[in-house]
Amino acid sequence: MTALSLTINGTPHGPIEVRDDLSMNDFLREVLGMTGTKFACGAAQCLSCVVIVDDDDGTSATRPTCVTPAISFNGTQIRTVEGHAKEGKLTALQKAFVAHYAFQCGYCTAGFLNEAQVFLEGLQATPIPRAGLEQAILESLDGHLCRCSGYVRYHGAVRDVVLADPARYLR
Ligand code: FES
Ligand code: FES
Repeated sequence: MTALSLTINGTPHGPIEVRDDLSMNDFLREVLGMTGTKFACGAAQCLSCVVIVDDDDGTSATRPTCVTPAISFNGTQIRTVEGHAKEGKLTALQKAFVAHYAFQCGYCTAGFLNEAQVFLEGLQATPIPRAGLEQAILESLDGHLCRCSGYVRYHGAVRDVVLADPARYLR
């Protein structure tokens, strides 16, 4: 057993004693009851289970939770799908997912949402030319599998968010 402390969506958790072999996915879902983070392939192949890890240098990246020990997140600051909407208000990205009917079963959605959020924040920090947007969206969401084949709709939703506020994301 190891004591785990981390910050999730701005709220400190722990120290909580967890088994060393407990996955982060089980910690979130079974220990904390945060079931927005999904478990799909369980083999780090589909990226449905990723959360956002915020580094001290201001950068963020997604990380799978299904095969990752919870204790490896000790001391980190993470964001999960539950942290996107504030006071019941969806973000522009969430609204775009809904408007595009981007998801069907929804198993992959939290992963796509987290990845797309990191992508948008990256564009805010380093805007790109409009001509490079399609390729950048493709590359940012690459590796996320959707068994319901919602790829085009997810991509369209992210594109809409960027083009709705080009001064923020494009140069
Ligand atoms: S459930 Fe973690 S990558 Fe598929
Ligand atoms: S919406 Fe079903 S797996 Fe993507």
